Amino acid sequence: MLTAASQVLLRSEELLEQGKWLLVNPTDGQVFSELANPDVHGFHQFFDIYEQSVAVTKGQGRDSQHQFAAAYEADASFDGAVLYLPKAKAHGQMLLANIAPCLKPGATLLVVGENKGGIKSAAKLLTPYSDNVNKVDSARHCAMFAAVIDKPVAPFDITKWQDVSEYQVSDITFKVCSLPGVFSHGDLDTGTQLLLDNIDRVVSGRILDFACGAGIIGCFAGLKNAQAQVVMSDVSALAIYCSQKSAELNGVKAQVIPSNGLRALTGKFAQVFTNPPFHTGIKTDYSVTESFMQQLKNHLQDRGSLILVANKFLRYADELEKQFKSVQFLKETSKFSVYCCRR
Ligand SMILES: C[S@@+](CC[C@H](N)C(=O)[O-])C[C@H]1O[C@@H](n2cnc3c(N)ncnc32)[C@H](O)[C@@H]1O
Repeated sequence: MLTAASQVLLRSEELLEQGKWLLVNPTDGQVFSELANPDVHGFHQFFDIYEQSVAVTKGQGRDSQHQFAAAYEADASFDGAVLYLPKAKAHGQMLLANIAPCLKPGATLLVVGENKGGIKSAAKLLTPYSDNVNKVDSARHCAMFAAVIDKPVAPFDITKWQDVSEYQVSDITFKVCSLPGVFSHGDLDTGTQLLLDNIDRVVSGRILDFACGAGIIGCFAGLKNAQAQVVMSDVSALAIYCSQKSAELNGVKAQVIPSNGLRALTGKFAQVFTNPPFHTGIKTDYSVTESFMQQLKNHLQDRGSLILVANKFLRYADELEKQFKSVQFLKETSKFSVYCCRR
């Protein structure tokens, strides 16, 4: 389904008719089949949209035009790019710094997004790259801005955007690498900390940090029990990048897997830990966590357990009770609940 931002982009399709174009974090895959120009490529930091985009363009042999990556490899070959504005301002700034060196001098840079997502500030985001920024369109609670690159552009180095912070929980000290656009960038979320505080024991088996973000839970678990085989998964390429770095920083051997929900995960786990998502982009979305709760029992070993933290207002207890034999509250605070569920 086309999102409102893609619909607004398609209203100005004539801008993308000529040359080689890059769509950056499009919010749907269908836009690639609607655009007449076959030389439109995709830079994706979200694995679900990457998979959709590959599926949509496979028939025309254009699936290799899509990259799932934390950073796009610069080759200054594009005549234009469209950035779908992300939720976090610093994430938008980092993406612009990444794609500007991928563009030819004089190329067009479009930024599209929802009013609720702060698109009105896009003109400001573009001023480091251009003195020539215009509003192209505004419809469907979205707007689109265009700029012609007319200022010098610096090479992109993702490591300059990284934050490495050190935390201590119980008697474990660990380092976390994070980037703009990753959950709780530069900080330890209160819910995540409460989950860590309530992990008494990590088993010496295969364990999963589902929706791992910067890899905090997986690293903590790997440090708590060096015999645990740590797997971490997330839909975001930035989260995958940071989790790999965090694991290296802590000397934790981990397998880090991009996955939409549990789809790409095979094999069973003895323990699963998660602070699961309830947003997709700027929208509240419980569907990922609901599917996770429904499907997890197929990924748990006999006597395997799930430890999950969630905001108290998210009433997950009913669904968990439907899916698991035993559901216990490990901890409740005024804001969060930590659940322990067993098959
Ligand atoms: C609340 S954050 C928790 C991050 C990390 N575990 C922590 O505690 O700091 C939820 C995570 O879910 C990820 N996520 C969102 N949608 C997802 C999906 N469809 N499949 C897998 N992960 C998803 C987000 O990228 C984000 O990293």
